[in-house]
Amino acid sequence: MKMITVLGARPQFIKACMLSRLLQNDKNINEIIVHTGQHYDKNMSDIFFTQLQLPTPDYHLGVGSGSHGKQTADMLIQLENVINKEKPDLVLVYGDTNSTLAGSLAASKLHVPIAHIEAGLRSFNRRMPEEINRVVTDHLSTFLFAPSQAAVDHLAREGIKEGVYVTGDIMYDAVLHYKETAVNQSDILQRLQLQAGDYYLATIHRAENTDEPDRLKNILKAFQQLDKKVVFPLHPRTKHTIEKWEQGTNSNILLIEPLNYLDMLVMESQAKTILTDSGGIQKEAYMLRTPCITLRKETEWEETVREKWNTIMPPTHSEKIVEAVLNSEKPQAYRSLFGDGNAAHHIQVVLREMFKY
Ligand code: UD1
Repeated sequence: MKMITVLGARPQFIKACMLSRLLQNDKNINEIIVHTGQHYDKNMSDIFFTQLQLPTPDYHLGVGSGSHGKQTADMLIQLENVINKEKPDLVLVYGDTNSTLAGSLAASKLHVPIAHIEAGLRSFNRRMPEEINRVVTDHLSTFLFAPSQAAVDHLAREGIKEGVYVTGDIMYDAVLHYKETAVNQSDILQRLQLQAGDYYLATIHRAENTDEPDRLKNILKAFQQLDKKVVFPLHPRTKHTIEKWEQGTNSNILLIEPLNYLDMLVMESQAKTILTDSGGIQKEAYMLRTPCITLRKETEWEETVREKWNTIMPPTHSEKIVEAVLNSEKPQAYRSLFGDGNAAHHIQVVLREMFKY
């Protein structure tokens, strides 16, 4: 069985490491890895391949940044060539980025079945590029690997009932696998001179926040008013905007470069509270039992809000953000929401059965 895995952005490298490890050791499967080049900075891409022992990509498309249309189109042209050349039995895509969309469009036009990992998520906000990417990808996919029953229900409401498998969340596999290694190997708290539980961790990268100066200013204003240091690893997009203003250097905010996976796991697990607009980090906060404030007006991960570990707070008023952070506490109850930590294995079993290899 020959398959192509399309990767491109940071969270996809984390998601892929657990399954690729199984596939690369499976002698009946030939997994070809294509890196679109959507993320290309060393600390947004290479470091993840090294740290998570992901195989070097067989193809690197070097697409880089651009408008949505250009970035996706460049990927599409090149992915079509790769698929035509390799003639795979399956194209596998992760999540909801432009690389996911390009992979699924290229494969579907060439009549190659698609497997989508993290299928069925919805924010119900079509202004988010990710929502468009995931809706299209789900409707083109043959195999839909859903992290939860809620995701299955979303698909069913859109008429997608066949080929849907609940596997649990593959990011949970990675958290369980790397949590202990992170604690043993990472010295990030010492390097940043932080005490466990005595700082907030913030990440902001969504276009709706970074490209709206008012929102980003509200967010920074709130961070400046908090009672503990706010450690803020900067996504390149956020960095561009903040640097333009030459602010955010207030001593309460510690602006740092993007973190590698192990350092991030430690920072997430030891933070008092996490403030983020990232989908993956909301989930990781829950998995590591750290309260989370989501700086958006909706979330794909409603279950974490229902369990009271995650609070939705649209960043329209800085005082409200401050209040939400100061009131955030670890709830007493905790329930496992993201499967049994063996999502990669469950996916491999389905692929084996379907392709009879
Ligand atoms: C993408 C995904 C988003 C995901 C995120 C993870 C889309 C539409 N969005 O957003 O779903 O949560 O990845 O991080 O696919 N840049 C660099 N170096 C890099 C990468 C990006 O400088 O290595 C800068 C460029 O200025 C670029 C901007 O960041 O224009 C945005 O990058 P882009 O790939 O368009 O989307 P992300 O915001 O990273």
